[in-house]
Amino acid sequence: MISTALSTKLGLRVPIIQAPMAGGPSSQELVAACSAAGALGCFGFAYTQPADMEKQAAWVRERTQAPFLINLFTSPQPGEITNQRAALDAVAHFYAELGLGAPQPVQPPYAPDLEAQLATVERIRPRAFTTHLADLPRERVKKFQSLGMLVGGAATTVAEAKHLESAGFDFVIAQGGEAGGHRGTWMGDPYDALTGTLALTRLVARAVRIPVVAAGGIMDGAGIAAVLALGAQAAQLGTAFLPCPESGASQVHKDALLATEEDDTRITEKFSGKPARGLANRFIREMADAPQLAFPAQSSITSKLRVASAKAGKPDCVALWAGQAAALSRKLPAAELIRTLEQETIAALRAGAALVKE
Ligand SMILES: Cc1cc2nc3c(=O)[nH]c(=O)nc-3n(C[C@H](O)[C@H](O)[C@H](O)COP(=O)(O)O)c2cc1C
Repeated sequence: MISTALSTKLGLRVPIIQAPMAGGPSSQELVAACSAAGALGCFGFAYTQPADMEKQAAWVRERTQAPFLINLFTSPQPGEITNQRAALDAVAHFYAELGLGAPQPVQPPYAPDLEAQLATVERIRPRAFTTHLADLPRERVKKFQSLGMLVGGAATTVAEAKHLESAGFDFVIAQGGEAGGHRGTWMGDPYDALTGTLALTRLVARAVRIPVVAAGGIMDGAGIAAVLALGAQAAQLGTAFLPCPESGASQVHKDALLATEEDDTRITEKFSGKPARGLANRFIREMADAPQLAFPAQSSITSKLRVASAKAGKPDCVALWAGQAAALSRKLPAAELIRTLEQETIAALRAGAALVKE
């Protein structure tokens, strides 16, 4: 057991958070396995309709009494987008290759209704809730807390972390530039907010009094021990959990992670309309200068491509989200991965202490 004030408050045996990963990877199987193993299993419910959110949460509760977390994208959606021609033309050759016909204009809503999702979170009452891509009004934070939830939010800068603290959040996730998936930036330009996990964790831990969770490029116990030493009270790992058999990531995605040998990731806006980090593939390279729609409408255009490409066993058009340390990926069941991470963290902390000579 490794404990910090935050991990104790969350009811965890180890200060490890399985990152919420919307779009399938953070499946009910993965969440249940991680929570039952003493880490915090997290649902990434950004693209999940309320009825399904309730079903999946109930499924986990049938299998474990352990705490879990729900995460949503709290950013607003754009309205109708009139001129989509250039963005559709840019992906037309990929559609043709995969036998999908011509890409069609997309209509709002591009994602489930946020207000309905937030109301569903109030009914489910998970142990914790976190925001991504935006903050949450203070009143809602208070409401969630009054229902027994701890509320956290992603920050990619000190300014965002301070804002979350002043809005009453219980903890902040410092998302370093190494992180896989979407950049959580919601104040200012995301390309000015790529501070690495090491520097960001330290800067945020100094700037706020609420607990800090570090995320980005953490794949093993050495990484967890490092961020604990920097002042984080837990580590949030996304990429490390993708190859687990319980994860809902596609086989193509899992295979690509296990095959990668060094950092071959890029940040691209072309899959969803917002910057996100993933393994470089044909889609990222060929779309580099192509026009795109606003987030998440671009995602509606590319979803067919991503699904068809994964189904065909081709990584070309799959969003292979991955952090910069993806080459350290391991293919282990979630419970075994968590046990291994715990042992490695203890070993790294002890090895550090052994360097001290009195
Ligand atoms: C496939 C994938 C999907 C992600 N989806 C979400 C999400 O829905 N919500 C969220 O808060 N973070 C999401 N993230 C970001 C993680 O919370 C976290 O910042 C990141 O995984 C940390 O970097 P690492 O992947 O190197 O561990 C996602 C990350 C990945 C890899």
